[in-house]
Amino acid sequence: MRSRLIEALPDATVVVRAPGRVNLIGEHTDYNGFPVLPMAIDRGIWIATAPRGDATMVVRSIDPAKYPAEAIPLAEIASRPPAGTWIDYVVAAVRRRPPVAGLELVVAGTVPAEAGLSSSSALVVAAFLAMGEVGDRAALAEEARLAERYVGTLSGGMDQAIALLGMRGHALRIDFRPVRATAVEMPPDIAVVVAHSGVQAAKSGAAREAYNARVHECMAAARELGAGGDGLLADVELSRRTAVHELDDAVLGRRAGYVFAEARRVEEAVHALRSGNLPVLGELLNASHRGLRDDYEVSHPAVDALVKRARAAGAAGARVVGAGFGGCIVAVCERARAGDLRAALGPKAWVFSPAAGAERNAV
Ligand code: GLA
Repeated sequence: MRSRLIEALPDATVVVRAPGRVNLIGEHTDYNGFPVLPMAIDRGIWIATAPRGDATMVVRSIDPAKYPAEAIPLAEIASRPPAGTWIDYVVAAVRRRPPVAGLELVVAGTVPAEAGLSSSSALVVAAFLAMGEVGDRAALAEEARLAERYVGTLSGGMDQAIALLGMRGHALRIDFRPVRATAVEMPPDIAVVVAHSGVQAAKSGAAREAYNARVHECMAAARELGAGGDGLLADVELSRRTAVHELDDAVLGRRAGYVFAEARRVEEAVHALRSGNLPVLGELLNASHRGLRDDYEVSHPAVDALVKRARAAGAAGARVVGAGFGGCIVAVCERARAGDLRAALGPKAWVFSPAAGAERNAV
């Protein structure tokens, strides 16, 4: 990818890469203050940069038919409103680190878009890195989370954190407030298989509204349960967490009940990985999917069908991954069966190994 970028921008002085991610478990927990357990993947977003002689920032892609370019005068970066295009994700970062002189950015990517594999946060993180050195990665993850609000999603911080902190060979348990990561080695005999349902999980339009609605519902549930601190579900006292069935609004009760259960599953999944217990890990994924489908209502019939297909084809467990509303499933299986499982899940299926986090290199 590096050589394609340099071909597209021969004067490039810097090339950065930020990975996409697969979340093993801990879905819709991050914005509630609970941990997640993702791994970075060896698919990512690359950006090459080169100085320009005028006071303009030009952002273009190596695939201009799909991702049209935009030229923004430096003086207008801070005031550019979101336009509903892919460039918004670049501007989300750049407006916080505006270039002091003209700059050309060329973007390339290998993360399937609208799949629940976090191509958009990888783009935000890559744009941050394109603007300068990294510094404290956990702090930058938090800044990138807040920056991404520019596009209108109230996302919780998992995607930006794993893109920056990912470690080869490891999943990361990521805690929030503040962001901190604990490495959890992936047992070599457990494989992670991801497959696309064919339904786009757009991070815009109705899916964004539905995602943000979940954030608000969880905050409302937390309030009703008497949360202290920041008013998140993680701030609800342990003794009150069993009171979800008493909430007047049954929907809020189901949302909160799912989140509390999923948070416990993250802890259990860390133990299952550390002891190499695939059957337990698989059951945790299955339980997560049931909760996401029935209580959190973020699955999709095509995704449910694919989850079933994965289990029938030998997965120990499978579930919808990412925000949901379409996109991919993640399944776990014995390494020896991964090839067969991938083949059973169709042409858009991959076996992913945990990859390293973002990097910035001089050309
Ligand atoms: C999106 C958000 C994340 C997280 C997931 C669901 O990917 O960006 O912060 O909330 O959805 O787990």
